[in-house]
Amino acid sequence: MKIVMLGAPGAGKGTQAKRIAEKYSIPHISTGDIFRANIKNNTELGLKAKSYMDQGMLVPDELTLDLIMDRFKDEDCKNGYVLDGFPRTIPQAEALTKALQEKNDKLDYAINVEVKDEEIITRMSGRRACLSCGGTYHIVNIPPKVEGICDKCGAELVQRADDKPETVKKRLEVYHELTQPLIEYYDNEGILKEVNGSLPMDETFGIIVSILG
Ligand code: AP5
Ligand code: MG
Repeated sequence: MKIVMLGAPGAGKGTQAKRIAEKYSIPHISTGDIFRANIKNNTELGLKAKSYMDQGMLVPDELTLDLIMDRFKDEDCKNGYVLDGFPRTIPQAEALTKALQEKNDKLDYAINVEVKDEEIITRMSGRRACLSCGGTYHIVNIPPKVEGICDKCGAELVQRADDKPETVKKRLEVYHELTQPLIEYYDNEGILKEVNGSLPMDETFGIIVSILG
């Protein structure tokens, strides 16, 4: 099964994608997580990506495409994947469609997690992230068992550098301009599914499972 998660920053793409990956035994591939791991490890890619991410801008398509096409070669992608944060522009979506077509393959679902901008601002201020395993928490909605510590790997939780209110505002602007058009793109491909991301996360997940079967 090959799935794309769509939605604004903070809509819950990562939260839902992790659960989909677990239930359907497919890898969760988040370009944002890969960039953040590279930043943490001070790689050349990380250095390049950081300057864009800290300003709430997108990393250039060429860099992102190289990275994701490389990831698709890994053995664990054989039975599909859930993509979170990619594609994020029409050229990225077209490159993905083309790469799949070359292998006589296609995506199965594009799931759009819908949340209003006002709610997103509140969510982001309370988000805490684990930069070691990609775990995501919310200080009020989804708190970790021990404050400041990741339940899964025990690493320290941090506030993401791009979760400052002014950067969140910029990310939302970029989303509406460059990423939202993907909703129509995948609707035209006949694979778009809309889900309400404002519900408690278990309810949103229940809706997704009823779609995926
Ligand atoms: P990325 O890491 O993809 O960030 P994003 O799209 O901005 O989305 P987020 O990760 O912020 O939100 P999410 O939808 O995953 O929500 P989450 O589940 O955490 O990208 C970061 C940057 O990298 C980009 O700005 C760009 O620079 C670069 N980049 C990445 N991919 C790229 C690409 N393809 N091309 C170019 N550049 C790229 O949930 C948010 C919060 O809400 C959490 O605290 C969570 O616990 C809470 N929450 C989740 N669900 C619920 C619920 N139902 N109810 C209440 N709270 C909830
Ligand atoms: Mg995410």
